[in-house]
Amino acid sequence: MTASGGNVIQGTFDEGRPGWLGGLGNVRNVVRQEMISRQLARHLHRRPARVLDVGAGQGTQSIRLAAAGHEVLAVEPDPQLRAAFAAALANEPADVRARVSLRAGALGGLASVTHGDRFDVVLLLGVMMYLPSSEPVIAELAAHVATGGMLALAVRTTSSALWRPAARQDWLGTLAAFEEYDAANAQRRDMRYLNEIGAAARADRFDALVAAAAAHGLALEDWYGIRIAVDPEELDPPPPSDPATLAALLAVEERLGSTDPYRQLGQLAHLILRQAPPSI
Ligand SMILES: C[S@@+](CC[C@H](N)C(=O)[O-])C[C@H]1O[C@@H](n2cnc3c(N)ncnc32)[C@H](O)[C@@H]1O
Repeated sequence: MTASGGNVIQGTFDEGRPGWLGGLGNVRNVVRQEMISRQLARHLHRRPARVLDVGAGQGTQSIRLAAAGHEVLAVEPDPQLRAAFAAALANEPADVRARVSLRAGALGGLASVTHGDRFDVVLLLGVMMYLPSSEPVIAELAAHVATGGMLALAVRTTSSALWRPAARQDWLGTLAAFEEYDAANAQRRDMRYLNEIGAAARADRFDALVAAAAAHGLALEDWYGIRIAVDPEELDPPPPSDPATLAALLAVEERLGSTDPYRQLGQLAHLILRQAPPSI
């Protein structure tokens, strides 16, 4: 991974890169990206908004937001992911391309790319689980959120790290996950697991994450579960080819993801955190 500036935080995504890039067209990512887009749209009050997409990857959300009229600064450390992003962006109309800036950079050194600017929307989607701890990341991101703006985090929680092997009827894997959960609690550290794209990853405790955000002025506005009914097996097939079946799957995921108790079982938790104006 190459990125310049600051004490760049090294993550574990490299191990999962081939699996991630290879699965972009499959049902898990199709559902994940569509749910994130719909959920962000519910909370994006300002148009056009200034968006900072950190760890933007292949650019799915950056490009969709630019197509919706928003101005996007996308920061991505990995040259292969930046190349995939640039290739996708090249297929967009000129006005969309003009609203996206793609830069090399990483957490730990964001200021060298953003020059301390603040944004209406800051995104960190599917990145936190590859990083050693969440608190410093929240602090760095919070410093980039404008007053009244929002931070959107898509993370793996301990509930999903425990539920995933159980949903797949991997009983030994589930017992091992519970053992790791208990050990992590006893040692006051985060739970670790191997994720579905083969990377060593870390799960956040939902309450601890919300508390860390609150310490930086970010209040939980809402949250969603992502990939609930679609994720029962190790298999990640292509999405349904029948448009009506795909539309029904997306509608079901959208309802489940915003309704208790089902959202608790999502493979990702999508938190919308709002920077409140300072009280006088
Ligand atoms: C699973 S991909 C998610 C991409 C995109 N955010 C999405 O949701 O489609 C994880 C991304 O996190 C990026 N990443 C890993 N370590 C990072 C760091 N220290 N700072 C910023 N991004 C990082 C990776 O390069 C990769 O693009």
